[in-house]
Amino acid sequence: MTARLRADLSSLPYYVPGRSLPGAVKLASNEVPAGPLPSVIVAISDAAAGLNRYPDNRATALGERLALELDVTPSQLALGCGSSMLCLQLVQATCGPADEVLFAWRSFEAYPIFTQICGVRQRTVPLRADARHDLTAMLSAITPATRLVFVCNPNNPTGTAVRAEELVAFLDAVPDGVLVALDEAYHEFVTDPAVGDGMALFRRWDNLAVLRTFSKAYGLAGLRVGYCVAHEPVVNALHRVFVPFSVNSLAQVAALASLEVKDELLARCRAVAAERDRVRAELLAMGYPVPDSQANFVWLPLGEQTTAFTEHCLQHKIVIRPFSGEGARITIGEASENDALLAVARAWPGSGGTHPPM
Ligand SMILES: Cc1ncc(COP(=O)(O)O)c(C=O)c1O
Repeated sequence: MTARLRADLSSLPYYVPGRSLPGAVKLASNEVPAGPLPSVIVAISDAAAGLNRYPDNRATALGERLALELDVTPSQLALGCGSSMLCLQLVQATCGPADEVLFAWRSFEAYPIFTQICGVRQRTVPLRADARHDLTAMLSAITPATRLVFVCNPNNPTGTAVRAEELVAFLDAVPDGVLVALDEAYHEFVTDPAVGDGMALFRRWDNLAVLRTFSKAYGLAGLRVGYCVAHEPVVNALHRVFVPFSVNSLAQVAALASLEVKDELLARCRAVAAERDRVRAELLAMGYPVPDSQANFVWLPLGEQTTAFTEHCLQHKIVIRPFSGEGARITIGEASENDALLAVARAWPGSGGTHPPM
């Protein structure tokens, strides 16, 4: 007897998580290098005693606290099992089989997976030559079938960001009935004041949803909690497709405790951003092409040389994230880890000014 599975499953792209190699420096998963602060660890261990109980399904305390932080109402917030799950929920909540999701490519690799899981059509628009979103081309790619547009800002894996004025012009022109999901998973690492901030724009457009996460800046990737700020009809739709209890109780208390020490965590993000700028400057000086990054990683568009560069790093026990034939994404780690990466990049025969500048 065999089970009859979905015929199109084999065509679903696999999500490729960053590799871990024992003893190696892991710069492959866009995590922050430091663990949760001591007060957060205490909150998590205190909550462990209550794990026989289901979590608060709506994460009420966290939602109320976050709403205060963000100056929105709790009814304008949906919590999710990581912002990844909220991306999936957005597709489920907006699209039926004949509808389309639009996003730039290359961008967050979960977008095409979620779109296909939902049996929905996808339309992609290539990034510009400078690896930034081409919002003009994206606007032209909207069709009567488009229900959802992901704008990943800063973009994973390139780190590039669109400016506030570009976003405003885009949002002004997006037709009624199309939801724009501004995925700001890396927002806290942005240092360029010209880059758009979804929360500053949120009130002006009923069709704007802003996604953020505790995984990156708040160092809670292992606990899985993210949020979506949107107008009430969208939040209610997200609740409809929410997997019950999928924001676990440890994640809820850890996120709350992290908000208590937000300033310290955000200072860490600024240190990561400074390291990012140092790493990029040194890579540029070696002749690598590196677009401006506003996230906690840098992108090396090495094309056909990507695999060779990744292997070279692996031989020196540094794990990065290759996108075969396109480029390599390198997460910013501790200063010593970044130094190790820079030394390995310097020693690579492919470096040395052979690439066009970005
Ligand atoms: C652009 C982007 N959005 C969302 C996520 C999801 O993060 P999480 O599900 O951990 O909140 C990621 C994680 O890599 C990401 O890169």
